[in-house]
Amino acid sequence: MTDTIAPVSLDDINLSNPYFWARPLPERDDAFRRLREHRPLAFFDEPEVPGDAVGAEDMPPPRGYYAVTRYADLAEISKRPKDFCSGQGSVSVRDMPADIAELFGSMIAMDDPRHARLRGIVARRFTPRALERLLDSVDETTNEIIDAAAAKGEADFVTDFAAPLPLLIILDMMGIPRSLYPEVLHNSNVILSAGDPEYFPPGEDPREILIGAGLSLLGMMNELAEERRVNPKDDLTSQLIHAGDEGEDDRLTAQEISSFFILLVVAGNETTRTALTHGMHQLTRNPDQREILKKDLDGVLPTAVEEIVRYASPVTYMRRTATRDVELAGEQFVKGDKFVLFYGSANRDDEVFDDPDQFDVRRDPNPHVGFGAPGPHFCLGAHLARREMSVMLRRLFERLPDIEATDEPQRLFGALPLVNGIKHLPVRFTPQPVRR
Ligand code: HEM
Repeated sequence: MTDTIAPVSLDDINLSNPYFWARPLPERDDAFRRLREHRPLAFFDEPEVPGDAVGAEDMPPPRGYYAVTRYADLAEISKRPKDFCSGQGSVSVRDMPADIAELFGSMIAMDDPRHARLRGIVARRFTPRALERLLDSVDETTNEIIDAAAAKGEADFVTDFAAPLPLLIILDMMGIPRSLYPEVLHNSNVILSAGDPEYFPPGEDPREILIGAGLSLLGMMNELAEERRVNPKDDLTSQLIHAGDEGEDDRLTAQEISSFFILLVVAGNETTRTALTHGMHQLTRNPDQREILKKDLDGVLPTAVEEIVRYASPVTYMRRTATRDVELAGEQFVKGDKFVLFYGSANRDDEVFDDPDQFDVRRDPNPHVGFGAPGPHFCLGAHLARREMSVMLRRLFERLPDIEATDEPQRLFGALPLVNGIKHLPVRFTPQPVRR
């Protein structure tokens, strides 16, 4: 596995072109380095993504966007939500028609006061204390996942290890039967695929595929919500449905619960999967780093997890929109201008990180913005994601100590994918007996 860098000229960099995202990762990083250096707020036309543009005929014409590539600008925008809002769209560069925005937007695409109200209600259920039992169960679920693959000797790291953990944990958290895993996985893959042909077969209607995936998750959630309304159990769904039974202020509407569920399934699943898979890839490419980690799991895991999130930057971008004429980095912008925050680029900014292209499992300090920069939308599940990643890496190195990637990752193909996604990564290890 060697890096090949074929530098492109600045004028040829087009972040809206799917082929840009298909370039080898070092080439992509090099393009972002040059943007940071020479055009930190470069302007691009909006990408064309099947499904993203659905209903576009009813929408205002795409106006293009500024690509925010420097750490300082990204941090500045994130902490000024009144000037740079999320409510006009955050998970898509294109404006979405209202019905789709409602289905997929949830609080990640809201501003105060709606955002603060919703975040307040759900954040209480996401503290380490509130999640204590779920966090404890991560270890058992991880061991079950490893049991299922341990004897095989070779596997697809994504489908056998990285995808099941975060999704099974979310299903348990919400009280959704694990038997629905394949259906939820498929729909979540579709929603975040950025039009990858594996999930959007050419010739089929992208609008139908995308809405179908959202509606399928919605139907599942509505059914469960009805059940829990009359028969509450010890799960997040029951807590959210019965929130406000004591006081009206805390009550969530059925629609709020459903779109929060879709957000959780998508945000909490593909991201952690992506981080774990990039982590396995980098630990294979950097045997010295792998040895440092393996020799002192207790000491090094916490910094290794942060470094994996920095290096992988699983969320490619979030969008913000100027709510008024604003100044940023000495430049003037007008109301309605769109800003796309490129987390992976900020996470390689050498103004902040020494030797940023180096994967260093002991990097400290590591003020990466992989979970978002400080601001009202900072990742709600960061604590859970860190736990999932460290438990999976620990158990893998304990139980399959020689596990390593045997080929390059197969990445998502699409224009401006929301996640820096890997679909498949072959791995090999000495087969081991299952526990007990
Ligand atoms: C390595 C894994 C993860 C990464 C890299 C990640 C990254 C992010 C990022 C970049 C944001 C947006 C921040 C912003 O707009 O300023 C975000 C928001 C969010 N994340 Fe995560 N996330 C991860 C795991 C999770 C998990 C496991 C969950 C839940 C189970 C979760 C739930 C959420 C929610 C609900 C939001 C929206 C928060 C809001 O709008 O107030 N995430 N995450």
